[in-house]
Amino acid sequence: MNGEVEVQQGDSQHLYERLARLGDWAAYTPESCARFYDAIQEIQALKRERRAVILAHNYQRPEIFEVADFIGDSLELARQATQVEADVIVFCGVHFMAETAKILNPDKTVLLPDLRAGCSLADSIDAESLAARKEELRVLYPDLAVVAYVNTTADVKAEADACCTSSNAVKIVNALVSRHILFVPDENLARYVQQETDKTILSWNGNCYVHHQITPEQITAVKEKLPHIQVLAHPECRADVLELADAVLSTSGMVRYAQESDATEFLVVTECGLSDRLLLEMPEKKFYKACKLCHYMKMITLEDTLAALRHMRFEITLPEEVRRGAEKALRKMFELS
Ligand code: 13P
Ligand code: SF4
Repeated sequence: MNGEVEVQQGDSQHLYERLARLGDWAAYTPESCARFYDAIQEIQALKRERRAVILAHNYQRPEIFEVADFIGDSLELARQATQVEADVIVFCGVHFMAETAKILNPDKTVLLPDLRAGCSLADSIDAESLAARKEELRVLYPDLAVVAYVNTTADVKAEADACCTSSNAVKIVNALVSRHILFVPDENLARYVQQETDKTILSWNGNCYVHHQITPEQITAVKEKLPHIQVLAHPECRADVLELADAVLSTSGMVRYAQESDATEFLVVTECGLSDRLLLEMPEKKFYKACKLCHYMKMITLEDTLAALRHMRFEITLPEEVRRGAEKALRKMFELS
């Protein structure tokens, strides 16, 4: 299921058998799967009728994976958005991701099934404050370049020289000519990048509420019981958590790592949805999860995805000047990575 998704065969009983593998906590029942099955059939028919594709982030609900044409991390989804031939993109993810799809596809209709699906990291910075900070720092560092994590709004991206994601942040910083980088808005990712580069990283004080709440004590407690476990952590985690990781990876980086590794037991230190994807794809391996949910990601439901296609809602629009500025920073990221 990496990237392009195979169409799953079967009826609602097959769907139940697939999803029940996630265990009791996921609470799938034959009845709920029968409802999902009907919604899935209708979504597939509407996709054909509307010439629509569904792009889904790795943290989405498992039943959403069933209707997705592509599942991935932020970088893969942004890349995929540049290759869409359909007229409509339904984005099952959070607002900044749907915006990225719109920035790269100004002539297509981009829908987000629930407009409340935001991001605490994207909310931690606004374009005006960034412009002011940039001006201040340019007095001290005339070569300053701004790198904006893709978890930002379009107008923040428009203030940046380049965007990056969790999978290419170090690469983008190293590829820029500037020695001084204002890296926004994730302080944890900025600290991680600083450890991996000899450039000077100036950070912002934003963080992801999901990853920032994970503590080293929680990781150590698992490692004490299962000393052989491989710890995979997302770079949005705190530095003292990353120190305990065997690998620091983006969400899709974790999927590839688990597929290629000889190890059979992993502690997945990121949002819980990724463990669902891992369990569905590698039933022969064991994945222990951090049990942290991103309530923004989980606002997107199968019912709302169906409603989005039925009523062609909620459309993402952007002022053209902002869109163009943000596109420049995103294209720079593609060029450098
Ligand atoms: P990835 O790009 O690694 O999927 O991360 C996105 C995100 O929102 C992490 O919280
Ligand atoms: Fe934003 Fe964190 Fe949710 Fe990712 S997990 S969408 S960074 S709040």
